[in-house]
Amino acid sequence: MDQKMTDMLAARARQARANAYAPYSHFQVGAALLCDGGEIFTGCNMENASFGATICAERAAAAAAVCAGKRRFEAICIAAGDETVVPCGLCRQVLCEFGPDMLVLCCSKDAVKAYTLRELLPDAFSGFTPGM
Ligand code: THU
Repeated sequence: MDQKMTDMLAARARQARANAYAPYSHFQVGAALLCDGGEIFTGCNMENASFGATICAERAAAAAAVCAGKRRFEAICIAAGDETVVPCGLCRQVLCEFGPDMLVLCCSKDAVKAYTLRELLPDAFSGFTPGM
């Protein structure tokens, strides 16, 4: 991932964060997802009065990408304000479905930390094996 793309993803994630709907936690998150072919899809967290119905920024971006016909994820960048935030367990599993080898970039106020999804979700569940 070159610096220009990292900067672009960070800018798009911060932009998406501005639309986060988080009246309960007041924790706003934005994500920018890079798919094969170079298209970028964004998402923000969307909370609900029934807290369990909340959707994280990462899964919102993943849904937007899949809805547009994309099924190969290359990288995601997450922006949550001053501090670095890494994706929750549920989002790691969802991202793994479409990008087991993807890069996960986590922005803070002035830096970007890079992880691989494999690092964040080792030994991921990948489905049922026939005959087991
Ligand atoms: N959240 C995200 O959108 N992404 C993360 O990686 C961590 C958590 C959201 C869910 C909820 O709206 C709020 O942050 C607090 O957990």
